Amino acid sequence: MNVNGVPYRTIWLKEEDPSLVQIIDQRNLPHEFNIEDIRDVTAMSAAIQEMHVRGAGLIGAAAGYGMYLAALEASRAADFDASLRESYDRLKATRPTAVNLVWALDRQIEAMSKVDTVAEKVDRSLETARAIADEDAAFCRSIGVHGLELIRSIAEKKNGSGPVNILTHCNAGWLAFVDHGSATAPIYASHDARIDVHVWVDETRPRNQGARLTAWELGQHGVPYTVIPDNVGGHLMQHGQVDLVITGTDRTAVSGDVANKIGTYLKALAAADNNVPFYVALPSSTFDWEIRDGVAEIPIEQRGGDEVRYAQGTSEGRLTRVLLTPESAAAANYAFDVTPARLVTGLITERGICEANEESILGLFPEKRR
Ligand code: MRU
Repeated sequence: MNVNGVPYRTIWLKEEDPSLVQIIDQRNLPHEFNIEDIRDVTAMSAAIQEMHVRGAGLIGAAAGYGMYLAALEASRAADFDASLRESYDRLKATRPTAVNLVWALDRQIEAMSKVDTVAEKVDRSLETARAIADEDAAFCRSIGVHGLELIRSIAEKKNGSGPVNILTHCNAGWLAFVDHGSATAPIYASHDARIDVHVWVDETRPRNQGARLTAWELGQHGVPYTVIPDNVGGHLMQHGQVDLVITGTDRTAVSGDVANKIGTYLKALAAADNNVPFYVALPSSTFDWEIRDGVAEIPIEQRGGDEVRYAQGTSEGRLTRVLLTPESAAAANYAFDVTPARLVTGLITERGICEANEESILGLFPEKRR
């Protein structure tokens, strides 16, 4: 997508030096746009853990490129396999909830296991990293195509009586993927098709991915939006001001239970109470085909309390961090919650839209039937 009219992805290999990965460092957006060089597994692990890059799809792509850097490092080590395994474990330990991380790591290990020499393994890891990133972008584009039809049908029912009002939580935009985004792809596609859309953007405390990232993205693409405090959605739904909710997900069980940014569950409850359709958009890399009970089985990341105690912004043009709570306040920081499948109207995937249940999901992905 474009940044001030210039097309960017969130992660790429430097053209003049293919041993260098570059990322958009998201920590200071929207106030500063910084590109960061990532030279080794240590730097990639830190970039994922400290959220220079974040969002399920992008975490997967970063893990893919991380394993390419790991293969380069291993090719200079005494024991290729031991070095690679160490890097795998290090990358895997960065963030627990988004399943794209381990999916990408395992895909790299499998790809490298198909060839014999170290040089071939390095080449194979590069091809695979590129494939993961390209596929992520292509899948998100397809999510946009399918989601566009959903939004078009709502617009037709509204028959010009106002924009289609879509509420989203956190950032499941192109910054959370390689390009296009999952929840935002149908929004961008609709806007490009000249359907009148307006987005309610949940600010998404504590890290404010909605207020900082989703708002910035939508603005860059010219999509009308309004940032709202996290607790406003229910009120808007009661007053007919939300036509549709679309969120992303960090891991979706084969039963249709959806893990997403903390607070999503409350939005789904409010949507169900007000008959507002609640859709979740995801590429197939975000399904966890091994689990059925999302609440019991999806690991929920807990992050440091300072993310709750402090907020970041600018003051007189300078980035600053302010303390919100009493100095010694205890703070709990659960990063995700699980929305049970019964509250999810449908899943928008690269292959089409299905219901949030095993039968319907496997209908779209029959190769996953066992
Ligand atoms: O903690 P983050 O920023 O990595 O969380 C990810 C998210 O932005 C959301 O949970 C998102 O809706 C799903 S990721 C596409």
